[in-house]
Amino acid sequence: MSKATVSAPANIAFIKYWGARDLERALPMNSSISMTLEHCVTQCTVEALEREGIDEIWNAEPDGGFGTPEPEFAQRVREHLARVRKWAGRSEAVRVATRNTFPTAGGLASSASGFAALTLAAAAAFGKKASTKELSLLARRSGSGSACRSVLGGFVEWAASRGNGNLDDDSYARQLADADHWDLRNVIAVVEIGPKTVSSIEGHRRALTSPYFDKRQELLPERLEKARRAIRERDLTALGPVIEEEAIDLHLIAMSSHPPIFYWSPGTVAVLRAVRELRQEGLAAWATMDAGANVHVLCDADSEDDVAERLEDLPAVGFVIRDGVGPGPDEETEHLF
Ligand code: PMV
Repeated sequence: MSKATVSAPANIAFIKYWGARDLERALPMNSSISMTLEHCVTQCTVEALEREGIDEIWNAEPDGGFGTPEPEFAQRVREHLARVRKWAGRSEAVRVATRNTFPTAGGLASSASGFAALTLAAAAAFGKKASTKELSLLARRSGSGSACRSVLGGFVEWAASRGNGNLDDDSYARQLADADHWDLRNVIAVVEIGPKTVSSIEGHRRALTSPYFDKRQELLPERLEKARRAIRERDLTALGPVIEEEAIDLHLIAMSSHPPIFYWSPGTVAVLRAVRELRQEGLAAWATMDAGANVHVLCDADSEDDVAERLEDLPAVGFVIRDGVGPGPDEETEHLF
């Protein structure tokens, strides 16, 4: 097939990737664990053209049409297409279009879903079948490392290394449990609109300059184990404190990097306070943030309405997105062009 469309979901990290051994190949300093989302998805169509040369790259615009992406992003897409082409043993140029199903204006535009969808759609357009492991490795090599977790559904662990020698071939994601294992909900409180000011790639680079970086690395083996166990046992009261600690530590490291990075906005603090109050009222709700101001609040299905209503009522919250655990990427029959 020369044209393929894949939708790949965003994911929210419980244990974060923050700091790399090798930034270009996204070889992380530590393993990470995430939940794959269901509704926040990037759709990507790739068509292999009957010519070589320059790739055509299009992004969906809010009005439903397509426009050209930012040059820096287009460059990253081109570099990754070259990588996938080489891997697939092909030489044709491609036409690519992507669309996010979630509001990109919410600052939630996810490079993880974008690069996972691009990897899978390009592999399919080139007619190359591959194992999930190979696709996860390829998505990771895009440089947007967390994309390697979006290749799988449910609850996912990306190992820094699996102890089999060459790190580049050894750092990929595997499923811990599928989407049916645990009906966890993620209410996303959007408090800031617009793209983040410092990219996560720059954040990984600066992370190693924080005096707290090594301390977090020391704490991680125990945290990873607690998160794995809590997922296995579907135990939100065990998972919650771990994911909150992790989110605070990521931002602590960002704020103490040289130069410092402040992703939080006043709304972030307001949501964190509301989540603590919800817990005092007896609801199991726990917060995490990636490299941005918006807060992902994890709760069980019974509490979702209460959590969403409370967060929606906060003056600092523009809107909430309700999401849950998703089954992972899907090949679609309807193309974007
Ligand atoms: O994959 P990147 O380079 O976009 O980095 C992801 C960084 C975090 O979202 C903050 C953490 C994570 O593990 O997803």
